[in-house]
Amino acid sequence: MSTFILGIESSCDDTSAAVLKDTRILSNVIANQDIHKTYGGVVPELASRAHQQNIIPVVDVALNKAKITKKQLNAIAFTRGPGLLGSLLVGTSFAKSFAMGLGIPIIEVDHLKAHILSHFIDDEEKDAQPKFPFLCLTVSGGHTQIVRVDSPKQMKVIGTSIDDAAGEAFDKAAKIMGLPYPGGPEIDKLAKIGNPDAFSFPKPSMQGLNYSFSGLKTSFLYFLRDRLKEDEGFIEKNKADLSASMQYTIIHILMNKLKRAARETGIHEIAIAGGVSANSGLRETLRQAADEFGWNIHIPKLQYSTDNAAMIAIAGYFKFLDGDFATQDLTPYSKSRF
Ligand code: KG4
Ligand code: ZN
Repeated sequence: MSTFILGIESSCDDTSAAVLKDTRILSNVIANQDIHKTYGGVVPELASRAHQQNIIPVVDVALNKAKITKKQLNAIAFTRGPGLLGSLLVGTSFAKSFAMGLGIPIIEVDHLKAHILSHFIDDEEKDAQPKFPFLCLTVSGGHTQIVRVDSPKQMKVIGTSIDDAAGEAFDKAAKIMGLPYPGGPEIDKLAKIGNPDAFSFPKPSMQGLNYSFSGLKTSFLYFLRDRLKEDEGFIEKNKADLSASMQYTIIHILMNKLKRAARETGIHEIAIAGGVSANSGLRETLRQAADEFGWNIHIPKLQYSTDNAAMIAIAGYFKFLDGDFATQDLTPYSKSRF
């Protein structure tokens, strides 16, 4: 018999609901919150209010698109953390009360593990799934991790950023240049017409497999401050080259440790996940590395790279198979526990 899982994602500024029939995607609905564009970043208070407004219509559309009724659901999976607490509370409370009303179990999901498990979502154009063990470079707005994945349950972080995430480096560089939020996709677009060798920015030398991105952000800020003193039109004239050079530097830093992780673990099955995995430069660089080092690579489809509830539902599905359910008294967490 098939299992129908409703996934709910509300950790940041996207309200999303998805329905899976076992591992197969039936619907994945995302309501983006445009309100944050006005402020150049996510305003937590506004995010939770928007989730509150969006969650019921989004779930309703997800069930309709999946062509199932709520009575057919077997469980509800939701993001417990990490993320913005006020936002997480909306998804968590909704999941708890909806499940209680339907008399079905709830499943708590870690957002970062879900990004990794997005590789196991089945849709029409089914790609080859990663084989265990594999390494996943998870690059989102809040986290940068290299994870050794031995099974859906067994994952170990073997490298992490000690300060800013790669996504933050993209977003902050974009903000400094006056580009709209979120900055990652804007830099990606501009980088396509810029010269990555135009400017050189420092690459940190971190121990082991760890990352650091805060120094890069500061040096970008100081570099522009100095140039603007000489020419106030400097950013406007060099937007594309600045974007290409910054993107090149971030990708270089990311790839350096990923190559080292592959070397040290001997694992050549490599995946990327999270919002920054949508970056066209990173995707291309990973393809080149695959040719050079004989890696078997896995790049998520764009709709599963950035935040979505389908990844929450697939992570929930694996827990459902184990009967790993949550209790009604649990509370969300803001910081990564993994
Ligand atoms: O995973 P995600 O959607 O949300 C979090 O869990 O944080 O990641 C959001 C991050 C933002 O920093 C955004 O700028 C970045 O992903 N991002 C990109 C691109 N698309 C989204 N960064 C670079 N290039 C892109 N095409
Ligand atoms: Zn995310």
